[in-house]
Amino acid sequence: MPGTSTFEQLRAGRPLITVGVLSADLMSLAAEIETVRSAGVKLLHFDIMDGCFCPMLTVGPGFVKGVKTDLLKDVHLMIADPIGRIESFVAAGADIITINIESTGHIHRCLQMLGQMENANDRSRGIVRGVVLNPGTPVESVRPLLDDLEMVMLLAVNPGWGGQKFIQATYAKLARLRDMIDNAGRDILIGIDGGINKTNIAEVASAGADVIVTGSAVFDGANPKANAEFMIKALKQ
Ligand code: DX5
Ligand code: ZN
Repeated sequence: MPGTSTFEQLRAGRPLITVGVLSADLMSLAAEIETVRSAGVKLLHFDIMDGCFCPMLTVGPGFVKGVKTDLLKDVHLMIADPIGRIESFVAAGADIITINIESTGHIHRCLQMLGQMENANDRSRGIVRGVVLNPGTPVESVRPLLDDLEMVMLLAVNPGWGGQKFIQATYAKLARLRDMIDNAGRDILIGIDGGINKTNIAEVASAGADVIVTGSAVFDGANPKANAEFMIKALKQ
């Protein structure tokens, strides 16, 4: 929530990248995380998929908890009926929880619940609450939620897989979302998730994204340190 240190840290550091953990070499995960940390990465993005809301099945709270790190844990829920599972991801150490709006009939209640929970890493830190929109979901759907969240994330691909192509219409959605937030007089971070690589990250940052997810373009099996450094440098251009 605004005023808490996690939110302030993101606000002060923006634009930031958040790196998709599941694109890493899971046999060497600790080393992979240390590599991107040494490049200046501050956030790790966990894509939680249940094979029901979206086709792929990934990991759950046990995995999130098992990743021992002082980097911020950014947990993206792409699961059907998330309301009963939110608490387990908070207990696993999530610093940011974002929820796909299409996955629940009760997004407002999810956000209200999250607003009453404490960060398991450090209760003074707060949990940043966010809503994620699929490419086909209009930005107007978050208007009634603007008093109850700190971040809106736009998916620039359909949820399910890393390594997809960035959907260009996301730029127009980003501009509309920024207008809506400014007109409401709210301080809300905008995230973009999916299809971000070395060729488009500078454009995505200059279009006004505060938090930028990048997975397969950093953990490409070759040089994650150089990739992450490139991405971070490109944010400031
Ligand atoms: C899409 C996920 C994204 C995506 C990021 O389902 O939410 O986080 O996998 O991966 P890249 O950067 O490879 O598109
Ligand atoms: Zn994601």
